[in-house]
Amino acid sequence: MNVLLAVSGGIAAYKSAELVRLLRKQGAAVRVVMTRSAMEFVRPLTFQALSGNPVHSELLDADEENAMGHITLARWADLMIIAPATANIIAKCSHGLTDDLLTTLYLAATCPVYIAPAMNQAMWNKAVTQENIQKLKSYGVTVIGPGQGDQACGETGFGRMSEPVEISQRLLGKPIAQCLQGLKVLISAGPTREPLDPVRYLTNRSSGKMGYALAGAALNAGAQVTLVSGPVQLAAPLNIEVIGVETAAQMYAAVISKAPEYDIYIGAAAVADYSPAAAQSEKIKKQAEQIALTLQKTRDILAEVAQLEHRPFTVGFAAETHNLEQYAQDKLARKNLDMIAANWVGRDLGGFESDQNALQVFWENGRSTLAMTDKNQLSAQLISLIAERLYEKRQLKT
Ligand code: C5P
Repeated sequence: MNVLLAVSGGIAAYKSAELVRLLRKQGAAVRVVMTRSAMEFVRPLTFQALSGNPVHSELLDADEENAMGHITLARWADLMIIAPATANIIAKCSHGLTDDLLTTLYLAATCPVYIAPAMNQAMWNKAVTQENIQKLKSYGVTVIGPGQGDQACGETGFGRMSEPVEISQRLLGKPIAQCLQGLKVLISAGPTREPLDPVRYLTNRSSGKMGYALAGAALNAGAQVTLVSGPVQLAAPLNIEVIGVETAAQMYAAVISKAPEYDIYIGAAAVADYSPAAAQSEKIKKQAEQIALTLQKTRDILAEVAQLEHRPFTVGFAAETHNLEQYAQDKLARKNLDMIAANWVGRDLGGFESDQNALQVFWENGRSTLAMTDKNQLSAQLISLIAERLYEKRQLKT
């Protein structure tokens, strides 16, 4: 697969360097063209080193044209991605203007073209930009993003370029292979059962599908995986260590004893928040008209993992019926997590018992939206996002 990456002049140009790395890791050949203003943000040498090919920038440069003219370059490409695509480039492409190499290539390209817009939220929301985007869509261009969140200009809103991992998956349609090679991943999954007496218990609707799909995706990504699982009707993939538990207290004990040895902990279990204060040792008899149940708060496994001295990269889930983002952001901060994946529950689409789900993922100063798809695909995308953040965090530390 030959990918022509066109970089225009926005601060998000630095993210495109990571995009080159991800595309190449998946076996794509990458050639990069840059506008002059893109070169003010990132030096061509960075893209040359990462792509393994010279960077193209001039339309009328005899040397460059001899090496690979713009028509040859356009023919070479199996797909073209403009990332970041500034408001200016979007305007020029939508009107067919060709005053530099990037826009000329856009016009000359016969392959599928994708754009990943990146700009200030007011510029993105301006009617003329939206009109230009609609025009490009009507010409068959696929628009990826932009995402919502904090912007380099200090504002918040739509306009952030989509994450490289999301773009590369949209382009090549496959998860990043082996991104967790050599790492150990601990995942909790399923519901818990809190006994009331020897025959009755309190539980919830969790099927465990998301946690099991994540375990499979982490295994596919090369990790050594341990699953601490509540009672579910699912078979774990081969080569995954499964520790079966029933109660929140058992899950707590299993996870806390294991977590310090792991690189990543994903708390995908629907742990009971409250447990009967004292389970009866004999079956509760049907006598009184009303009986009261005293419940005791359980220990928050996720929050305690995040407090460990040798804590793994800690990822939580938030299943919400309302105020999704607010509650998710609150949990991210309050439980001191590295990342939180939030989804709606109690609605018609996706969630607890479904094979499908959609996730809004948040981390410090960032977010990504993973669209509704089956839980296996979604897990592969989430695992890639986790890997990306984990490596970024480790890089910042060294
Ligand atoms: O606070 P809340 O229960 O909504 O947070 C959900 C996240 O916390 C999930 O990742 C869940 O696995 C985790 N959790 C936990 N221990 C509890 C309750 C929730 O690890 N006792």
